[in-house]
Amino acid sequence: MSSVDTIVIQGGRVVSTSGATAADVIVEGERIAAVVAPASVASMAATTSGARVVDAAGCYVVPGGVDVHTHLQLPMSPEATSSDTFETGSAAAAWGGTTTLIDFAGQMKGMHVRDAVEERLAEADGQCAIDYGFHLSMGDVDEIALKEMGSLVDEGITSFKFFMAYPGVYYSDDGQILRAMQRSAELGALTMMHAENGIAIDVLRDQAASRGDTGSVWHGRTRPSRLESEAVHRAAALAEVAGAPLYIVHLTSGDALEQVTWARQRGLNVFAETCPQYLYLSIDEHLDQPGIDGLRHICSPPLRHHENHDTLWKGLRRDELAVVSTDHCPFCDNEKLLGTDDFRVTPNGLGSIEHRMDLIHAGVIAGEISVARWVETCSTTPARLFGMYPQKGVIAPGSDADIVVYDPTVTQILGTDTHHMNLDHSVWEGMEIPGQVRTVISRGSFVIDDRTYVGRAGHGQFLRRDVSDLLV
Ligand code: URP
Ligand code: ZN
Ligand code: ZN
Repeated sequence: MSSVDTIVIQGGRVVSTSGATAADVIVEGERIAAVVAPASVASMAATTSGARVVDAAGCYVVPGGVDVHTHLQLPMSPEATSSDTFETGSAAAAWGGTTTLIDFAGQMKGMHVRDAVEERLAEADGQCAIDYGFHLSMGDVDEIALKEMGSLVDEGITSFKFFMAYPGVYYSDDGQILRAMQRSAELGALTMMHAENGIAIDVLRDQAASRGDTGSVWHGRTRPSRLESEAVHRAAALAEVAGAPLYIVHLTSGDALEQVTWARQRGLNVFAETCPQYLYLSIDEHLDQPGIDGLRHICSPPLRHHENHDTLWKGLRRDELAVVSTDHCPFCDNEKLLGTDDFRVTPNGLGSIEHRMDLIHAGVIAGEISVARWVETCSTTPARLFGMYPQKGVIAPGSDADIVVYDPTVTQILGTDTHHMNLDHSVWEGMEIPGQVRTVISRGSFVIDDRTYVGRAGHGQFLRRDVSDLLV
């Protein structure tokens, strides 16, 4: 890994939530020292002291991406574990311009939350190429777990995820969710919600299977968007009663977005993320395919009809959707094939940790969102919502030197031959994308240097996150 004391990034356009401005960035050690006028005296002076100069002419200089929803080396069942490890997944993230990951420690039924966290910290320790943190997924809300939430917040785990889906596995009922939201409100923590009505979905899934409707498209048809929007509405109502902020993960549909908009207009601190797969892929073109092609596209909530894409892009444009994360949870074909005779057995999840910044930048080129919103939704707002700002998510003096030099003029073709994820297929195979990461710096160290990987497992540090400054 290449680390120099002073780096000067010259000639680029520095992007923030207010747009792109021509500026040079001076890095000293692990932090940004100054953002100065191009070719100014300060910039030139920095280059004369043995600094490493990065030529960013024609490029955007953006704050490193912050992906707040990943599932690295997650055992989904005894037979299926997500295929990217902390080492491979964090390196792939860096290739795509992401410099911070927030993954999950998962408390299963009967498990102590402390054990869940310790286990996950040990798994990630010394493995990551970029900085990382954890949310806690709570699958067993009881008195001990509610109490323990306080110590976790003190230790930098300031967000807690609950599932209205997956009965018998991760599911919490409304009473458990309300109690956890009340506790989060006390602590200033953020409640994250997988919002799908899992009880109703299980009825539909079992009915489909008993009719013999076992192909992958039935995964989508038995999880209708109405059961997502109902759950979003219910989660917002519970959050309102508890006086707690709420963050809806992986929102997929216009139906569900209406409920977020409704809650926000009501004055509630309700935020939502979407993911690239819900902006580009659909049930009709991708999930409704025979065999492995359909199975590769099984994720929850499912891919929706094409018309939702425009609605979600509009939601990003208008700030009804605050964040784009990946929900990266890849499974290789041998594990996806477990569901050949029954979609219910397929491990849920897709791989896109490497492509988020590119796929959302493609939306900038297509005129869907501004370059400022690209950075806001992929870096600044996730950093703010999850208690990492201004350490992460902004190019400003004093912030961590997590910087991406992004060339918007290059065209790349996504696919298995070129990606760096530990995955034997790609749901993005053959997609032509405008723009590509050129150089990535994490806390002042090069991870990608002019399209060469120079990172190292263990450079990434565990982030003790604060509570959010956006939730007052
Ligand atoms: O299909 C998905 N999303 N897999 C990961 C687990 C989850 O629900 O986020
Ligand atoms: Zn989920
Ligand atoms: Zn997820």
